[in-house]
Amino acid sequence: MSGAAQSAQAAPALQQARPQRYHLLLVLLHWLLALLICMALFMGSQSMAPMANSDPAKLEALRAHMMVGGGILVLMVLRLLIRLLTRHPAPASTGNATLDRLAPLMHWALYGLVFVMAGSGIALSVMAGLPDIVFGGVGALPESLRIYPPRLVHGLVSKLLMLAILGHVAAALYHQFFKGDHLLRRMGLGKR
Ligand code: HEM
Ligand code: HEM
Repeated sequence: MSGAAQSAQAAPALQQARPQRYHLLLVLLHWLLALLICMALFMGSQSMAPMANSDPAKLEALRAHMMVGGGILVLMVLRLLIRLLTRHPAPASTGNATLDRLAPLMHWALYGLVFVMAGSGIALSVMAGLPDIVFGGVGALPESLRIYPPRLVHGLVSKLLMLAILGHVAAALYHQFFKGDHLLRRMGLGKR
């Protein structure tokens, strides 16, 4: 049999070998990270940012936020490594070529936006000396953190991340309920 004919036969076999679901660790980390990221976005914007730095509760809020933010960074790096090292289901189709090209870009954008959030948060806390103030009890918070440029990046990118997550959830629900292709199963438990 010619090489071309052999690879033509091998192609469907390879496609069949694709798992039906993402790796179990990716699935567990996806839902844990979704919860932690939504919590950090909600608590950060609704409760911590509006709080005056002179409020005694601010240090506790910052401590919790910085620990959850650092945890998100570690888990997201771990998830990215597992994502690069494991096999995943064949790309899902919407039936529209432009939307199909957009899907992987949106997935990488979610990783990118989370990394920019963690990076700008860490840069901000280093510039403002937060590790000593928040965890070491040394010194006091400045009147506002908005004088530091990474604070602007952190605030703006948090809004972009919220929009990206809304788009991601809308796309997942569109697949699930309008296309009826059970996309959510790919991020679920059960036979791989
Ligand atoms: C903070 C929230 C979230 C983030 C950062 C996030 C991130 C991601 C990323 C990066 C992927 C691509 C696959 C991968 O790299 O492993 C993905 C896939 C997926 N997510 Fe999310 N996700 C979030 C929330 C949600 C929610 C709330 C839902 C359900 C409504 C959902 C449903 C899915 C589904 C079904 C897939 C598989 C898509 C496919 O196979 O094409 N995600 N998610
Ligand atoms: C990785 C995920 C993270 C998310 C989703 C997140 C989310 C947020 C949000 C939504 C705000 C409020 C922004 C606004 O409404 O203007 C905020 C503020 C802040 N975040 Fe994060 N953050 C993350 C990581 C971090 C990390 C790792 C640190 C530091 C180690 C950090 C430190 C801060 C600080 C210092 C503020 C400013 C509070 C203020 O102005 O009073 N964040 N974050």
